[in-house]
Amino acid sequence: MNLVFAIKGKRFELDLSSVDPSTTLLEFLRYQTPFKSVKLSCGEGACGACVVLLSKYDPILKTVEDLTVSSCITLLYSINHCSITTSEGLGNSRDGFHSIHNRFSSFHASQCGFCTPGMCVSLYSALLDSEKTESSSEFTVLEAEKAVSGNLCRCTGYRPIVDACKSFASDVDIEDLGFNSFCKKGDSNKSLPPFNSKKHVCTFPEFLKDEIKSTDFGIPTSVEELQRLLGA
Ligand code: FES
Ligand code: FES
Repeated sequence: MNLVFAIKGKRFELDLSSVDPSTTLLEFLRYQTPFKSVKLSCGEGACGACVVLLSKYDPILKTVEDLTVSSCITLLYSINHCSITTSEGLGNSRDGFHSIHNRFSSFHASQCGFCTPGMCVSLYSALLDSEKTESSSEFTVLEAEKAVSGNLCRCTGYRPIVDACKSFASDVDIEDLGFNSFCKKGDSNKSLPPFNSKKHVCTFPEFLKDEIKSTDFGIPTSVEELQRLLGA
């Protein structure tokens, strides 16, 4: 059996017999892929430096579930048919940075940068979540604070980090936020790097959906198949 998954839309297929069962997703990302934005810090799921977005497809409901995981405590074995998005997947110097990156930059929310990729992914996940709920346009200051509450910054630059997150909140007074080199007083909101919520990064590639359909899990992958198994 092979392990099939995607990272930043790129397909990976590994022979299970060639994978050490103790290999973590973080080790795979850092040592065997170009996606090295994830960082190893505590190594026990407590600091958020290694946070990535893990997306799963439900073939029955035809929905994608996005959640953040600490890649340092996520075994590679456990991500079969999942899609992983790291900070590079949100944006990068070649394809253009994401507005989350731009706002972290404009609020001077990154010092050594060790925590920044994890912070950006955590914030992205929170913005995605708020879109999926009824109160979609209501990404609030409170949610912005919660978004990065599990991410530690050893440079202790929390004020600009939280300000960068809050700048996306619908109930924020942008003038209350800290120094922002992009802002001119009175016109600050317009000068922030824009965030287009309709242009979310595609977290789950189509080819992986087809992969799930064509794989025999021993579980139904459609309503029709479920009905057939139940004899309905
Ligand atoms: Fe993974 Fe700290 S290195 S949570
Ligand atoms: Fe250095 Fe956060 S910017 S750890």
